Amino acid sequence: MLTAITRAVSRSLLNCELTWLEREPIDIDRAIAQHHAYEALLAELGAHVIRLPALEDHPDAVFVEDPALVLDEVAVITSMGCESRRGERETLAAALAEFRPVLRMRDPARLEGGDVMRIGRELYAGLSARTDAAGVKELAWLLQPYGYRVTAVELRDCLHLKSACSYLGNNTVLINRKWLDTTALRGYQFLDVAESEPAAANALVVNGTVVIPSAWPATAQKIEAGGFPVRVVDVTELLKAESGVTCSSLLFHS
Ligand code: GLY
Repeated sequence: MLTAITRAVSRSLLNCELTWLEREPIDIDRAIAQHHAYEALLAELGAHVIRLPALEDHPDAVFVEDPALVLDEVAVITSMGCESRRGERETLAAALAEFRPVLRMRDPARLEGGDVMRIGRELYAGLSARTDAAGVKELAWLLQPYGYRVTAVELRDCLHLKSACSYLGNNTVLINRKWLDTTALRGYQFLDVAESEPAAANALVVNGTVVIPSAWPATAQKIEAGGFPVRVVDVTELLKAESGVTCSSLLFHS
């Protein structure tokens, strides 16, 4: 069974962290409705959705991807680089403990889940404002007993590794090559985002279907032309909070 852990949108989302984006007004009721539509799409694609309650003291808590990684054998609670988000972790850890043994990264290493792209037993970890070399090393140390290898990837001009690339399946990585050093990914086939849509490299694969924001129609078309089934979802208000479609869920088999 594919499980998706999500968290209800906090009304405080208006005060979210922003790194590369200018603050724009967010229509919070619309953001909530869009998040419900996102959850409904995950359910339609076969995921059992477990929605955790909103954390009003944590504007970014809807983005459950960053405080944790869920692998086949264990879950890892990350040592988040964003200080204001560190309080999101405990209730998420409690929810994940129902499904996996929970490991915890230690300070002062820093890493966020949005910086980790998994391809089988290979994990690629972006070196970003939120993830440092010590975080990559710590994650590698924690997961080495389970047969995972962690490789660092240099990033530029974007928040997380998964702002710059996502694995679609079939050895193919959706990518904006301007935002990362591609050397570590050279064994994969690249599907470039449309030139006019630099932020379109964040896509979520749910039971073989690629979910991508409706804001990126040209890239959606390219993915479809590449032979992948695609579904689009309107998350325009959540995008204003510097998120993507991977950020709002933790997907794993249970
Ligand atoms: N607003 C998403 C983040 O900065 O983590």
